[in-house]
Order: sequence, then structure tokens, then C-alpha cells
Amino acid sequence: MVQFHNRRYSPDDRKLYNLFCVTEYVIRCCFALNNCFYSGFFMLEHKKYIQRTFELARKGMGKVNPNPLVGAVIVKNNTIIGEGYHEQFGGAHAEVNAIKNATESVEGATLYVNLEPCSHTGKTPPCSDLIIRNKLSKVVIAMTDPNPHVSGRGIAKLRNAGIEVVENVLQKEAEDLNRVFIKYITSKTPYIVAKWAMTLDGKIASHVGDSQWVSNEKSRDIVQDLRNEFMGIMVGVNTIIGDDPKLTYRKKNGRSPIRIVMDSKLRIPMDSYVITHREEAETIIVHTTNAPASKKEILKELGVQCIETKPVQEKVDINVVLEKLGERGIDGILLEGGGTLNFSAFQAGVIDEVITFLSPKIIGGKHAKTPVEGGGIHLMKDAIALEYINVTNVDNDLMIRSKVKKEG
Ligand SMILES: NC(=O)c1ccc[n+]([C@@H]2O[C@H](COP(=O)([O-])OP(=O)(O)OC[C@H]3O[C@@H](n4cnc5c(N)ncnc54)[C@H](OP(=O)(O)O)[C@@H]3O)[C@@H](O)[C@H]2O)c1
Repeated sequence: MVQFHNRRYSPDDRKLYNLFCVTEYVIRCCFALNNCFYSGFFMLEHKKYIQRTFELARKGMGKVNPNPLVGAVIVKNNTIIGEGYHEQFGGAHAEVNAIKNATESVEGATLYVNLEPCSHTGKTPPCSDLIIRNKLSKVVIAMTDPNPHVSGRGIAKLRNAGIEVVENVLQKEAEDLNRVFIKYITSKTPYIVAKWAMTLDGKIASHVGDSQWVSNEKSRDIVQDLRNEFMGIMVGVNTIIGDDPKLTYRKKNGRSPIRIVMDSKLRIPMDSYVITHREEAETIIVHTTNAPASKKEILKELGVQCIETKPVQEKVDINVVLEKLGERGIDGILLEGGGTLNFSAFQAGVIDEVITFLSPKIIGGKHAKTPVEGGGIHLMKDAIALEYINVTNVDNDLMIRSKVKKEG
């Protein structure tokens, strides 16, 4: 900047100085605007490609558990030259598939991936080493690895090798996509989604027990997708006795969840669909140590898997069941009630998310079932608090996703 100290200066000098200051200010503004424009432009580009990694990652739904859903995109000269996703449990990681599928050299390209590349040898070698070896110049990541033992190490390895890393692009969306993985890897217990369909007056079945159907066809189709997404599906024994449901995934190209029946005293009828059609999906019956030995024997002879817990108020201990299911590698469970089991699960604090299909129908009836029953909570101030994730109109049903607020 021009110095005007220690001298007397004329009105012309002043004019010149003022002009200089204005010019400098304008130039600075231009640079700032330019930077804003470019960083905004690059962020839009980053978001666009990270969105694509989400789409690719979703293709692994129902196939990779308990691994995360991961998609990867390689971009060079503003063109996608390679894409890949984690296709099956134990299979190649998304980054490996994207590099393998690239249509030209990936040297100097940018890799977009929704989860931090791994830095350790698991079932496959570390992806960060592969990225370094293939000389990619930039990696854009939506979220860091939630596993506290490895979190941040993949990023550090890339940076140490001179690769530019951009973090946390669409992080919230990435965490929602992999919410099951995050819960399971950090707690070793499954992520629980309580799902129900109810009429506008809050009933899940009529006063004579009819519940087919509360929600419309499109909503039920979404429920089928959820059954493919989650490794387990859990119901109380009254739902089995009342409805004899199949609890299977009935669309093409997917797998049925493991059916888990909470049945303290083994009241389940032996001709229930979940027992007689085990070739369609695994069934696990959970009972207490007090269940009749004769029933345990019949189930053993039939080859039905059982889990036993000590009774808590004469019922199966939900927390112990979830630990045992976690040990079996079950990372997520769709809890399909009914109301008695739902209340117990809320009371035990094990529910992470609620998905409600609200149907514009009224059926009334003080004995008609509601989604959460049990003893109930006495005071409003003690109500279980939720926050909305999103609300979607599904052919005039409302699908409401909400997350249970947890302390700490
Ligand atoms: N519209 C919908 O979305 C929907 C979904 C599901 C069900 N439903 C309806 O709901 C009705 C059944 O609901 P419900 O409330 O009567 O029964 P439920 O919740 O299906 O089953 C409750 C039973 O599960 C057993 N259980 C085992 N461990 C438990 C624990 N820790 N906590 C609570 N229960 C435990 C108990 O029987 P034991 O003590 O013998 O073990 C309990 O009585 C059916 O009519 C069905 O149609 C509707």
C-alpha cells in the first residue's frame, strides 16, 4: 500500500490516494466473490457426486449387513469415469469396484465416497492404500468411519500421502443412510425401528382384531422394502396368535428378515406360519427359563432356533435378547408390535426410530388396539420424546419417520 506518512500532500495527492483505496477495495471484493463462487460451485459439485454415492450404496441394501452401505464415484475432467458399491457382505469394497470399473486411468482423478476409506486389513486389504497406489489426487467423503478404533485413520493416511481430502459433505444424510451400521458398530446391539400402521384415530386393529388393511397398497409396498433392509423382524406372540403373519419379504431380488417371536411361556401354536414355513425365512423363538419343558422339547425336535432369558416380571428380558441377537450379527430389527411389546421396548429404552403410516380412516372402539399399550406413562412430562426426521405423503397415507431422543 502507498505510504503517505511524514509528508505534506496536495489535494491531487489526496484524490489519487482515495482512488487507489476504492480500487483496492473493489479488487478485494472481486477476489472474495470469486472465491465464494468457486467454493460454492465446488460444493455443489461435491454434493451432486456424493448424492450419487448414496444411490449406489442403497443397491447393497439387504445384502451387506452387518457391513455399511457404501457407494463410490470417480470423476475426472468433470466426467464420471468409474462407479462401484459394496455389493455383498465380505465382498469387495465400493472404492475397489469403482477403480476396477473405471473406463480410463484414475491417476489425478477425484474419488467420492460416502464413508471414510478403510485403513486396516479386514476381509479385504485397506482401501486407502489402493487409492494412494492408484495416484488419485483428491478424496471427498460424506462421513468418517463411526468405529472408534479406526475413525480418522483412513483420512490421515491419505493426507500423509499428499492426497487432498474434503470431509463431511452431506454428513447428516450419510449418517441417516448408515444409521443401522453406526448403532451396531458402536454398541454391538441392533438398531431398532418400531413400525406400525394406524388409522387417524390411532387404532392398529379394529375392536374385533381385524387389521387387514390399515394402510394402503403403496405403504405396504414400502414396508416390504423395510423388511429387506433389516436383518430381523420382531413381534409379540399375541400378534402371531391373532394374525398368523408370514413376516416375509415378498418382492423380487431380496431376502426375508429373520423372524423373532417374543414368547415368554411358549404359547405359540405349533402350526403357526413362522414355524411351519421355515424354508422361507429363519425363525427364532425367544422364551424365558420358565417356559414349559414339553414345549421346549417340541421346538427342539422341530429344529426351531430358540433363545432363552431369565424372566423379568415374568416376561422375556428385552435387553438380554438384543445382546444375544447382536452376538449373532443381527445389526437391525424392524419391530412390528403389537402394542404390548412396543410399550415394553419403549420402556426399556431400546427403540431408536419410529415409522408410522397414518391412514385417513376412523374406526373407533374403546377396545380397538393401539400401537403402544402396556401400563402407559402417568405424566405428560415423562412422555417418550421424539423428533421428526421426515414426513412423506404416500398415496394419501402419511409416512412419518421420527427418531427417539436419547439422553446424553
Ligand atoms: N397395524 C399394525 O401395524 C399392527 C402390527 C402388529 C400387530 N398388530 C395387532 O396387534 C395385536 C396384538 O398386539 P398385543 O398388544 O395384543 O400383543 P403383542 O405385542 O403382539 O404381544 C404381546 C405379548 O408378547 C409377549 N412378550 C414376551 N416378552 C415380552 C416383553 N418383554 N414385553 C412385552 N411382551 C412380551 C407377552 O406374552 P407372554 O407373556 O405370553 O410372553 C405379551 O403378552 C394383533 O391384533 C395385531 O393384529 C397390528
